[in-house]
Amino acid sequence: MLQYYDNTTLTSAVIPTEWVELWKYTMQERLYDIKTAADEMLASGATTEEIRVRFLGKKGELTSLLRSMGQLSAEERPQMGKLVNELREYIESALEVAAQAGQIDAIAAQLRDEKIDVTAPGAAFARGTLHPITQVERRLCEIFCSMGFDVAEGVEVETDYYNFQAMNMPENHPARDTQDTFYVSSNILLRTHTSPVQARIMEQTQPPVRIVSPGRTYRSDVLDATHSPAFHQLEGLVVDKGITMGDLRGTLETFAREMFGESTKIRFRPHHFQFTEPSAEVDVSCFVCGGRGCRLCKGEGWIEILGAGMVHPNVLKMAGIDPTIYSGFAFGMGIDRIAMLSNAIDDMRLLFENDTRFLKQFG
Ligand code: DAH
Repeated sequence: MLQYYDNTTLTSAVIPTEWVELWKYTMQERLYDIKTAADEMLASGATTEEIRVRFLGKKGELTSLLRSMGQLSAEERPQMGKLVNELREYIESALEVAAQAGQIDAIAAQLRDEKIDVTAPGAAFARGTLHPITQVERRLCEIFCSMGFDVAEGVEVETDYYNFQAMNMPENHPARDTQDTFYVSSNILLRTHTSPVQARIMEQTQPPVRIVSPGRTYRSDVLDATHSPAFHQLEGLVVDKGITMGDLRGTLETFAREMFGESTKIRFRPHHFQFTEPSAEVDVSCFVCGGRGCRLCKGEGWIEILGAGMVHPNVLKMAGIDPTIYSGFAFGMGIDRIAMLSNAIDDMRLLFENDTRFLKQFG
C-alpha cells in the first residue's frame, strides 16, 4: 500500500483505473487521518504554532496533500480541493478558538495574580513636623509682627566690628570675654549674638526703627544639658524720638502675656550689658506654677528669659543716629531656652540630635 502514497512519480496516464479508485480512496482517507490527528493535537494542549506548522505550514501535511492534487482528474480535483479547503478552514478556526481561549486564560491568570484589594486600609504617610525651635521662632515673630515690628535678617559669619566694636565693646574690652568666640580670621568670626543686626539695620535706616531678628548664634561652649556651641537668639530693636524704658516695659509685658499666658507678669532686675544703658535682665512669672514656686522655676516663682535695656548712646552714634534726637530700647532672648521651658524639655542636646522619636512629639 505504501507505494500509493508516493504519488508524486505517478501520473493518471500510467495508473490503472482500479488503482486510481484505490488512490482516491487513499486521499480521502489521508484527509480523514489528518483531521483526526489535528483534533488529537488540539486536545493535547500543543501550542497553536506547533499545530499550524504540522498541518498548515509550507511543509505541513495538509499543504502536501493539496500539492499532490495535480494527480487527480479534472472532475475530481474541485471536489477534493473543496474537502481539503474545508479541512484547512476547520483547523484554522479551531486554532483561532484555541488562541482566544488561551488569551482568556491569560487574562484570568493576570486578574488573579494582580488582584488589588481596594477596600484594604492604605499605608499612612509619615508626615514631618516643624522643629520645636522653628515653632517657637515663628511664634515669637508672629507676636512681635502683630505689635508692628518687622523681621530683619543678619549674617552668621560676622565681622569683629559689628559683633563687638559697634556694640560698644572695643578691642581688648573685658566684656568680650563673656562670649567665647569662634574666629574665622583675626577680624571675621561666627557671631556670638544677634545684637550686630542692630548696628547693620541702624546704618541702613533712619528712625523710626522697629525690628526683631531671629537667627543662629555661636559660642565656643561644650555641648551639655544647658549649653550648645550653636544656638538661637531673637533680637529686638526700637529707635524713635522719645522712646523710654516705659515703652520697653510695656512692649515686653504685652509679649509675655501673648507668649506665656494672660496672667503672666514680668520683672526687671538691674544688670550690665555694654550696648545698653541702663540694662536689665527680665524674668517672667513661672507659667507652670503661676509664681508659687515649682520644679521648673526651681522654687523661685520667676524664670529669666531675656536681657534688655536702653540702646547705649555710643551704639546709636556709631550707627549714624544722633542720640540727642533719638533714643531706643533693645532686647535679646534665647529661642532654644524658651523652646525648652515651654515644652518641658530638660536637656538641650535633644534639640540638636534630630531623633525623630523625640521631634514627632511636637507635631
Ligand atoms: N546680646 C546679648 C547676649 O547675647 C543679649 C542682649 C541683652 C541683647 C541685652 C540685647 C540687650 O539687645 O539689650 O547675651
